[in-house]
Amino acid sequence: MKPLIAANWKMHKTTREALKFVDHFKVCRTKDREVLICAPFTDLPDLCLALSRCDIKLGAQNMHYRDKGAMTGEISAPMIKPYVDYVILGHSERRSFESDKVVNKKVLSALKHGIKPVMCVGETLAERRKKQHKRKIRKQVLEGLKKVKDVSKVVIAYEPLWAIGSGKTASPEQAEEMHAYIRHVLKEKYGKKKADSVRIIYGGSVKAGNIKQLMKKENINGVLVGGASLSAAKFKKIIDY
Ligand code: PGA
Repeated sequence: MKPLIAANWKMHKTTREALKFVDHFKVCRTKDREVLICAPFTDLPDLCLALSRCDIKLGAQNMHYRDKGAMTGEISAPMIKPYVDYVILGHSERRSFESDKVVNKKVLSALKHGIKPVMCVGETLAERRKKQHKRKIRKQVLEGLKKVKDVSKVVIAYEPLWAIGSGKTASPEQAEEMHAYIRHVLKEKYGKKKADSVRIIYGGSVKAGNIKQLMKKENINGVLVGGASLSAAKFKKIIDY
């Protein structure tokens, strides 16, 4: 399975800044790994054009689950579909106002429109301390994947909340334990063959200095990078780990 190295720019980069960033990747050829940039909505049309000659895929960071309607300020799957291959759904920075049920509706809508969801799951430090982290992850995975048949199109991002933007990465062993657990939950629901086809990627303070050790682990099939993906030089080092 090809590892997925994904950037999550969050609310960073105007279109001008985004185009300047991808200028550094014009000759980027990435045979043995898939590289993805999840950019703000406003950057998507220009980035889509700019990236058309290189191997970097484009993703959005959210979308509404309805195709259209009276939903002021929202963006739907058909609106982003011309530009993206992927969409991040249920990022922890949104989950405080988005239930598992809403995330599930978004996952189903993305799949219906041929966009691959990167569904984020993760526990808080308090949940981990109370040893509730596995229960939390199991619930998020199973509820998020309700009625999903072709799970191989879904990417699951394990992002422990205590590691996001904190500089405190989960150790490769901690991450692998949770990735193996997610694989186990997928096996129970879909069987071994399908479960093994799902990419489970790690997010939370990933940088050039720790990606190599993380990627050595059997069940870590890629990374979702926030802060360190904002600099072209740093992101290049991460891609070339
Ligand atoms: P970080 O963010 O790399 O800055 O910790 C990761 C994420 O939130 O996806």
